[in-house]
Amino acid sequence: MPGTCVIGLQWGDEAKGKLVDLLTKRHDVVARFLGGANAGHTVVDGENTYKLHHIPSGILSEDVANVVTAGVVINPPILLQEIDGLKARGVPVKNLMLSDRAHIIFPWHMAEDRAMNQSTADGENIGTTMRGIGPCYRDKVGRAHAIRLGDLIRPGLKEKIALITAAKNKTIASMYDDGSFTPLDADAIYTEYAAYAERLREYVTDSTSYLLDAADEDKRILFEGAQGALLDVDHGTYPFVTSSNSSGVGAAAGSGVPAKFITQTIGVVKAYSTRVGGGPFPTEQDNELGEKIRIRGNEFGTTTGRPRRCGWFDAVAVRYTARISGIDTIALMMLDVLSTLDELKICVAYDLNGERLTNFPSHVDDIRKVKPIYETLPGWAEEITGARSLEDLPANALAYIQRISELVGCEVGVVSVGPDRKQTIFTEQLAMLVGAAT
Ligand code: GDP
Ligand code: IMO
Ligand code: MG
Repeated sequence: MPGTCVIGLQWGDEAKGKLVDLLTKRHDVVARFLGGANAGHTVVDGENTYKLHHIPSGILSEDVANVVTAGVVINPPILLQEIDGLKARGVPVKNLMLSDRAHIIFPWHMAEDRAMNQSTADGENIGTTMRGIGPCYRDKVGRAHAIRLGDLIRPGLKEKIALITAAKNKTIASMYDDGSFTPLDADAIYTEYAAYAERLREYVTDSTSYLLDAADEDKRILFEGAQGALLDVDHGTYPFVTSSNSSGVGAAAGSGVPAKFITQTIGVVKAYSTRVGGGPFPTEQDNELGEKIRIRGNEFGTTTGRPRRCGWFDAVAVRYTARISGIDTIALMMLDVLSTLDELKICVAYDLNGERLTNFPSHVDDIRKVKPIYETLPGWAEEITGARSLEDLPANALAYIQRISELVGCEVGVVSVGPDRKQTIFTEQLAMLVGAAT
């Protein structure tokens, strides 16, 4: 059973949505396995651009099942807006399934995210997406104050909401020093969320059983990651991370499908690096060059609109995330953004207190301290958005791709030169693995 997994190998926004959409027609099921409305995945279909937060990026293919699995945290009003938005644009959304095990984000999670702004112990701000993601995952693990989608559509919701609201009103009030917190109204929340439940009911499924049956029946499942592996709660740049396993290790846990069914994992990277929010970023270019990349790449958050921090490709970080994610192939996206730069730098090692490192450090203090050691490659002057095969690319672009492949230790199976489906080059290696998608 060819199960394919798509994982972002940097700090998110690597163009996973474009790749998942392209690979969908080679699969029977697309399963999104983590995160929630912190994600913004863009799919461009001709004149239409879709920005998806919870809904898998395969939703435009009506004959492919799109499953939101147990590992996702659902924000009902945002999800319903997504569904309504798709329907208004002629996408029927009949192929959507929502796991009854997925946890629900409530107004208290949003209030907690805002109050703490998720500051870390040493006071630096994580700069979360403010979508209540961290507080919801924390309550999931804590268990006492959690409500899953299965609970949302069953009797007893009113009592659960009353109990949790009473407890949350006490703790959240103490988080707002200025007394600006208005206590939450349990009855109003119940009325609002009971109405959401009625609208979502038709999509609710035991997605774990569904996916296990699909795997047993040799259906082809495409596992869609969110965020990026450097934001993984265990293996990323902790504490400047999200609250779930966004590297390859999260696919089985979030979906309930054992890793043995995943036969290839594609690591998605930009040809440079970006990061939104706080936290260390060794190759950051907080200067004219970073600004040039931001403008050429339109690097503003899909979910929050925040300008993304931009920098050079970091092969130390990506080699690390490719290894923890078990990557077979690299999808190198946004190569067109680098056109017109005279020279390009790739970080090939770090200098930490005079020592040369090629392994990614585990502690945030060290990641903050490292000095990137760069290799410089010549750039290319011409725009490459019209390239449709490797032969169409300038020699310097091919050399850049080749060097990334060597440094990360993995073949490059996809090169993307623009947001459109057509602006994608599939190399022979990927065609062999999952079939050329175009
Ligand atoms: P995701 O979160 O990983 O799905 O990525 P986002 O959708 O947040 O951000 C990727 C952005 O880059 C989107 O606006 C895409 O339409 C766009 N995009 C995708 N591939 C390319 C590419 O090869 N070149 C350029 N210039 N833009 C791209
Ligand atoms: P996609 O799937 C980029 C970042 C936030 C913040 C940190 C924690 O579109 O690639 P959270 O709200 O999750 O508690 O925020 O993680 N972050 C993302 N950055 N793309 C994303 O998703 C992200 N999801 C979370 O900016 O730094
Ligand atoms: Mg995104």
